[in-house]
Amino acid sequence: MSFQFKKVLGLCLAACALQVVAQDYPSKPITMVMPYAPGGPGDTITRVFAGAMQKVLGQQIVVDNTAGASGSIGTAKVARAKPDGYTLLMIHVSHATNMVMYKNLPYHPVDDFEPIGRATSGPMLITARNEFPSKDLGEFVAYVKANAPKISLAHAGVGSASHLCALMMMSTLGVKFNEIPYKGTGPALNDLMGGQVDLLCDQTSGTVPSIKAGKIKAYAAAGKTRLPSLPQMPAISEAGVQGFDINISFGLYAPKGTPKPVLDKLTAALQASVGDPEVRQRLESMGISAVGVDLARPDALRAHLKNEIDNLGGLLTKAGVKPE
Ligand code: MLT
Repeated sequence: MSFQFKKVLGLCLAACALQVVAQDYPSKPITMVMPYAPGGPGDTITRVFAGAMQKVLGQQIVVDNTAGASGSIGTAKVARAKPDGYTLLMIHVSHATNMVMYKNLPYHPVDDFEPIGRATSGPMLITARNEFPSKDLGEFVAYVKANAPKISLAHAGVGSASHLCALMMMSTLGVKFNEIPYKGTGPALNDLMGGQVDLLCDQTSGTVPSIKAGKIKAYAAAGKTRLPSLPQMPAISEAGVQGFDINISFGLYAPKGTPKPVLDKLTAALQASVGDPEVRQRLESMGISAVGVDLARPDALRAHLKNEIDNLGGLLTKAGVKPE
């Protein structure tokens, strides 16, 4: 038997083995990797979907927070995992921005993954420590314009959602804050509540409960419309600030080569979860939406990722962020 023939035979046998395994899928617990720290918006959203999907699939889904390097460490872990449906990735815009950010990313965001479907869509808002010296949006804009260099702003690392939001805030207001990177906005929010940092531009799923509990304050929604979850808070456009509009969507991926029957089961479980009234209600209470069933599909996530690579990655280049 020639070496080439043995190699082809080996690959065929491996593929057949995966197809056979796919029939009984899932027969053991699944790991859902969230590449940001516990306690942040990504963690909260991943846990909502892990809980809902495990009910549909009949197997436990364990959340694994492998954080660091703007989500690229956890993402690399999934890219390297066996493509059998037992290791999945829940991620947002940093899947696109990391492609621009890192010269030697150890995976390719498109080529090394199978999209399963989109899960959520949610707005962002500007929050501050309770003692931050401005009582409303008008005062906030005037204060930060006058004091920017001595103001600290937390984010979850270059290319994260909170960093993109910070870049938009700084460029539309014409200011430059002192940026403090964290491994996720969970730990950043803790420091904001403790008064160690001044500002955080974050997703509502992380911040709305803390705002409602009076632990931090909020100045504006990043966009043109007020948030249904905080109707008394203005939109940033009401202060005459234009072009500061950002929305964050999470999506679910599997490693490249995961068998189609497994991917189909995962998409069906994701679709059942976005349609689950309990899931929708829980997310709405945090100011975000589960996507419609028509978006919880591989083609919708593939198109969304392409759009983010084309548009949001460029924001970093425009802001002068140099690839590492
Ligand atoms: C997190 O879960 O910590 C966030 O999604 C990080 C971010 O991108 O701002």
